[in-house]
Amino acid sequence: MALTGGKNQGDVSAMLAQAGRIIKDGGLVAFPTETVYGLGGDALNMESSRKIYEAKGRPSDNPLIVHIADMEHFEKIVSKVPEKARKLAEAFWPGPLTMIMEKAPIVPYRTTGGLDTVAVRMPGHPIALAFIKEAGGYVAAPSANLSGKPSPTTAKYVIQDMDGRIDMILDADSGETIGIESTIVDLTGETPMILRPGFITREMISAVVGKTDIDAAVFDDASKQPPKAPGMKYRHYAPQGELVIVEGEPGKVASYINAQTAAHARNGERTGVIGTSEMIEKYRADSIKDAGSRSDIVSAGSRIYTFLREFDDEQIDFIYSESFESTGVGQAIMNRLLKAAGHRCVQV
Ligand code: TXA
Ligand code: MG
Repeated sequence: MALTGGKNQGDVSAMLAQAGRIIKDGGLVAFPTETVYGLGGDALNMESSRKIYEAKGRPSDNPLIVHIADMEHFEKIVSKVPEKARKLAEAFWPGPLTMIMEKAPIVPYRTTGGLDTVAVRMPGHPIALAFIKEAGGYVAAPSANLSGKPSPTTAKYVIQDMDGRIDMILDADSGETIGIESTIVDLTGETPMILRPGFITREMISAVVGKTDIDAAVFDDASKQPPKAPGMKYRHYAPQGELVIVEGEPGKVASYINAQTAAHARNGERTGVIGTSEMIEKYRADSIKDAGSRSDIVSAGSRIYTFLREFDDEQIDFIYSESFESTGVGQAIMNRLLKAAGHRCVQV
């Protein structure tokens, strides 16, 4: 596998050209986006999509997002662009928003997991946009993790999961990633519906297109409510240790967590904590992660997946996390944390 991280402009152009050729030849390239790393293949080549599912170990009923770099390509893969999609594209593309619409016949069912709809996103990362152009305009890409693992926010974790399974990694860690996957909004019905919350919030979407719903499965255990985005039904983002979210008044949360970590320590088990800067000094555990200030929820979101991966590296058996407010971007963070925790949540 070619691993590239060229620093000067000549290197960057050469590696983008090489990455584009690999995609056109039916190969796979991992690439950075402003959310998480993607595992890309030619979206219009069903053999490439098959390879993506294989490399990820992903069930093939779980559709892929088609990444584009300009509006001309957009028109060609959806049968009709709804007016609301046009407005949302204008407001948020390039950026962390994925839209679901009726697909055009050129998009293979292999890419859409057998569905008549296609998910489309124009990412905001300059390397991603240049790569998509070099690759012919349509790059199908799920997050570049093995199925079930937290999405990778740095090249290090892409290599950990994908070494030997793909042809190339475009390594361009910027340190400024959003760190959680794009917001997904379904535009096939009258009222737009959010299937996966993200950095583009419901409030931001409804400011552009009016009334917007949220799939009920976003906050419920998927075993009770089948989610409309097939991928959301799988236990996702999971660290190897057992994660529990603790809700309540901050002082009580700290006392509860410290009692738990002390009990685990007596059993010889290793513990981790995710807390906000305001409370971080209070915790006692083998590994303590500072998610940043409670007033800076975006920063917490950008670190969550990295923390979960680091706990795996540190062989942590039990993880406790503070909870976050379920509004705005906090909604996306809580959605991912709840899934990673298999909905284990304690009120104190
Ligand atoms: O930020 C992101 O969106 C990242 C980067 C790489 O762009 N990609 C990403 O892809 O998160 P993935 O495959 O890990 O998640 C895509 C989600 C899955 O839950 C899938 O079921 C859903 O999108 N999805 C894709 N196409 C769909 C469709 N036609 N209808 C409903 N859900 C769809
Ligand atoms: Mg994923």
